[in-house]
Amino acid sequence: MTLVGVAVGVVLAIVAVFIPWLPDAASEQADIIDNVYWVVTIICVVVFAVVAGVSAYAVYKFRAPPGDMDDGSPIHGHTGLEIVWTLVPTILVTGIAVYSGVALAQSEELPPDHRVIEVTGEQFAWTFTYPDVEVEGGRPLTTGELVVPIDQTIRFEVESKDVIHSFWVPEWRMKQDAVQGITTNTTVKPTQLGTFPIVCTELCGLGHALMRSQARVLSLADYEAWVEEQQRLAREGGAIQGEELFAQQCGSCHVLADAGTLGEVGPNLDEALQGADADFILQSIVDPSAEIAPGYQDGVMPTNYGEMFTDPQLEGLVEYLLNATGGGAR
Ligand code: CUA
Repeated sequence: MTLVGVAVGVVLAIVAVFIPWLPDAASEQADIIDNVYWVVTIICVVVFAVVAGVSAYAVYKFRAPPGDMDDGSPIHGHTGLEIVWTLVPTILVTGIAVYSGVALAQSEELPPDHRVIEVTGEQFAWTFTYPDVEVEGGRPLTTGELVVPIDQTIRFEVESKDVIHSFWVPEWRMKQDAVQGITTNTTVKPTQLGTFPIVCTELCGLGHALMRSQARVLSLADYEAWVEEQQRLAREGGAIQGEELFAQQCGSCHVLADAGTLGEVGPNLDEALQGADADFILQSIVDPSAEIAPGYQDGVMPTNYGEMFTDPQLEGLVEYLLNATGGGAR
């Protein structure tokens, strides 16, 4: 039996070590948090092994022989044991609390040269505002995907327009609720280039599962080029840019043959916008609740596009949709 137990233990340990339990650690905070996670996990494994081992031994060693119907012999407490099983957990739990507190303080450390990005959650979309980047009309740059430079500490100021959402990039580990009426914050220093999912991790309504975006981490030079490109797009508008915007922002929810998009969350635009005029298309983008296509529900399409897009961008998008759906030809 001991041999079987050891064999099972070895197999389980090998499996446990080779499974990648956590997503990539792509921020400074992720390393700090993973350390806490693994320290606590190892303590738990050791405590569990000791408790389960002693229990299994006691069940086997002190089992009643067949036919023994006696009561067990009466015993009184064991002071030494009681001190040990009070003291050991107290020390462990206190140690974990102090260690976690230090890790939390470290991961929220904010150097003076940090950047600020505002994160707004709403049913069911994320909007990102860059207060230090100005675009056409003196407004700050606002996007639907998050783009950040690598190796720079970013303070995210998180807000909600309606219910509680939660901003989370698993690879960065840090997670923060978006609560209407208050601004919460979280700090991240990305340390890995790439594209990572942004997940809403608070059940917030019908579209909760779709409330996703992405975070792109670029080198500083690429980030600056991206900022310039955004400023150019915001300035110029035009149907070609409308097509790009559509692909970036709308295609995941709408079918549009011209753009080759296949999203099925919202109405098929080849049908819904057939022959529609510019006013109707604009209204559908900035005030999606004004008219709901039959068979679809209000409140699924985000209402933030009027803020997210500059006027030239909106004009470009409307112009593109007019052409793509045949309305412009009539
Ligand atoms: Cu927003 Cu779930």
